[in-house]
Amino acid sequence: MQKIVITGGAGFIGSHVVRRFVKNYPDYTIINLDKLTYAGNLANLKDIEHLPNYRFVKGDIVDSKFLIDFFVEEQPTAIIHLAAESHVDRSITNPHDFVMTNVLGTVNLLNVARINWEGRADNPRFYHISTDEVYGSLGKDGMFTETTSYDPHSPYSASKASSDHFVRAYHDTYGMNTVISNCSNNYGSFHFPEKLIPLAINNIKQNKPVPVYGKGENVRDWLWVEDHARAIDLIFHKAKAGTTYNIGGHNEWKNIDLIRLLCSILDKKLGRAEGESAKLITFVTDRAGHDLRYAIDATKLKNELGWMPSITFEEGLEKTVDWYLANEEWLTDVTSGHYQQYYNEQYANR
Ligand code: NAD
Ligand code: DAU
Repeated sequence: MQKIVITGGAGFIGSHVVRRFVKNYPDYTIINLDKLTYAGNLANLKDIEHLPNYRFVKGDIVDSKFLIDFFVEEQPTAIIHLAAESHVDRSITNPHDFVMTNVLGTVNLLNVARINWEGRADNPRFYHISTDEVYGSLGKDGMFTETTSYDPHSPYSASKASSDHFVRAYHDTYGMNTVISNCSNNYGSFHFPEKLIPLAINNIKQNKPVPVYGKGENVRDWLWVEDHARAIDLIFHKAKAGTTYNIGGHNEWKNIDLIRLLCSILDKKLGRAEGESAKLITFVTDRAGHDLRYAIDATKLKNELGWMPSITFEEGLEKTVDWYLANEEWLTDVTSGHYQQYYNEQYANR
């Protein structure tokens, strides 16, 4: 019987992973361990919180004393680790938070797992969820593979790269059953509206300026979050210990083109004249150290585990816009209060 701890399960991707595991594996017990920072929201899991194989525990992975007690009490059989500070702009304003949670928190978790699982014949799995940003920035050509050298530029990507190195070190040094996946930009429901796609949808809807950093020439590879959760499910169950998989959408978009597409979708959905929403596009000061282009080569995942994205970007984006338009209350809830203050400060000088 599996008892899986999913860290960061109240966040954007974590909530989709928790939902998938709770629904698809009624024999597993799923414990969502989350500190509930500004990005953690239990409303993301309302539809499954009553199910008997789901439990929430509030806790901070930076607190090693808490983690030791938690492990002794719960005796988990596996960890899927998503908890992190995840927003690049916040890492530029406050790198320290990213070192604490992403580096120290990951090492705390590895350490407590190592001590508790040492000598167990079944060697429980520690699955670390990482990002394509650890590979740095591409020029016009090329793609990141699993063997691309790490070259992080932002405090966020430096902290994720560091945590990946620690995970590999715990495999190589202590023989822990670790797996890492590095995914491209996700989009979909429950995405916190500080990130490009939900922020743009929200601003367009409210007739507010849509901030485009620099000239909008930067390229990201977008993947529907439920396809990421499906890849995590496959990798968790099938990958060999010590391996790494890249996950991506084969779906590169220049920011400015993506925002124009969103404007056009919303013109139709909101009954505006074509071109009306695009008037909200506002070019602002570029992000410091802004990586030009990310592109993931996910061939290994396709060849070894048979994974491919299940829907096109156009389908996924339409579903996502519809979800945000239908979930006004969720959006208002997360954009009020503390977040509003952050938002005002973040864009004050842009
Ligand atoms: P998110 O910011 O939406 O959620 C992070 C979650 O972690 C929140 O619920 C938060 O409360 C929790 N958390 C933060 N600090 C914690 C701590 N100290 N202790 C316990 N819980 C804590 O993030 P996301 O976008 O869902 O990303 C999840 C993971 O996937 C991260 O590790 C991120 O690096 C990685 N990732 C994200 C993307 C993306 O496009 N969003 C792409 C690739 C990889
Ligand atoms: O690539 C995976 C990464 O994708 C994850 O590891 C991160 O956790 C996740 O936040 C995301 O990072 P990005 O920096 O790529 O995402 P973000 O939505 O912040 O920005 C996407 C692009 O849009 C980026 O080039 C910056 C630009 N941007 C962003 C915002 C918020 C704008 O032009 N305007 C904006 O207001």
